[in-house]
Amino acid sequence: MKLFLDTADIEEIRTVARWGVLDGVTTNPTLYAKVGGSYEGILQDICRITPGPVSAEVVAEHVDEMLVEGRSFAKLAPNIVVKVPMSEEGLEAIYRFAEEGIKTNCTLIFTANQGLLAAKAGASLLSPFIGRLDDINQDGMEVIRELVGIVEMHDLDTEVLTASVRHPRHVTEAALAGSHVATLPFKVLQQMVHHPLTDKGIKTFRDDWDKARQVVAQTTGSGVTN
Ligand code: G3P
Repeated sequence: MKLFLDTADIEEIRTVARWGVLDGVTTNPTLYAKVGGSYEGILQDICRITPGPVSAEVVAEHVDEMLVEGRSFAKLAPNIVVKVPMSEEGLEAIYRFAEEGIKTNCTLIFTANQGLLAAKAGASLLSPFIGRLDDINQDGMEVIRELVGIVEMHDLDTEVLTASVRHPRHVTEAALAGSHVATLPFKVLQQMVHHPLTDKGIKTFRDDWDKARQVVAQTTGSGVTN
């Protein structure tokens, strides 16, 4: 399963790229609002950090304006994917972008049927929001399981991107459900790295090493302390 970072924060993206686990980035207007500045400039910076897909979201309501926005994003870098919300207008825009060879990520998907429609219109990524479904007492992961099943069974040329991920368990379950991609907030990626027993184990090994080296130094009088 590919791991994307769900952020517009350049420092977070640089950090995860250094870890060697960054396959792409997703942004949206809310994530952009947290950092501000020029959205186009941020997208160009992100595309310089990762060669993976970088989603840039359109905010226009109508097809023609969506097309103008999306075409302008697509010119910024070859790895830009235009993010389009699920709607009647959005489906038409996805179809038109596909005809022009511009890749799209259909966002705000909450049912497998919405995902099926987006795939048929030509979206290369389908983004079901699982955390927001969990928030209203529905099983977000069930949509991932259904949509992955449909994509595989009918050999659709698209990928399921698990979005609105809130905690590490979501990531494990998405991977087990066969999701092709998951996009994660930086905090969730950090949580995945750590385990209390790992962190405690690292400290114990360091402390034991220091003690052993002190004993060696005392017995040999070599002055070795590390
Ligand atoms: O990937 C979509 C994501 O940014 C939405 O997450 O936590 O606002 O539901 P959330």
